[in-house]
Amino acid sequence: MRIFIFALFFVSTVVTAQDSRQLVSLPPAAQDALRQEMLDNIAAVNEILTLMAGNKIKEAGELAEAKLGRSAMGKHRDKPFDARPGPHMPPAMHGIGMDGHQAASEFAAAAKAGDRDKALTLLPNLTSPCVACHFSYRTR
Ligand code: HEC
Repeated sequence: MRIFIFALFFVSTVVTAQDSRQLVSLPPAAQDALRQEMLDNIAAVNEILTLMAGNKIKEAGELAEAKLGRSAMGKHRDKPFDARPGPHMPPAMHGIGMDGHQAASEFAAAAKAGDRDKALTLLPNLTSPCVACHFSYRTR
């Protein structure tokens, strides 16, 4: 057991040392707003998967559009500048987020139309932007 714990520690040290993701500094208020948005994101993904598995395709589409699609853009617009994550991101990072909203809307359109096969084909596009951004950028 002790060897196992040591091995885990070693692995995590190596991972930290090799973390080549770009560090992005956001003002604390923007970081808080982003973190809350992220929790909403992961809850939405879970809910969409549950609806898809239950063959509630149209409901999955409606939720995806409202929570992750283009309809979900600009929700920080009325906040003070320091509390808006988008303008503090490097353009490429922000672009991943914008493309993610676009991809979610494409999934949503197919699902809202009840096209189960197309919705299933587009389903991974809901999580690809999450992976793309998290594997490229960190905030601490
Ligand atoms: C444009 C970049 C970007 C995209 C796209 C993105 N994230 Fe994040 N995410 C971040 C950053 C940056 C953080 C760290 C925020 C912080 O400083 O705490 C984060 C943190 C998180 C967290 C941790 C929240 C916490 O409790 O600390 C979760 C969960 C998460 N993201 C889920 C998702 C999911 C699910 C998606 C896709 C639907 C997604 N993210 C898309 C950038 C992104």
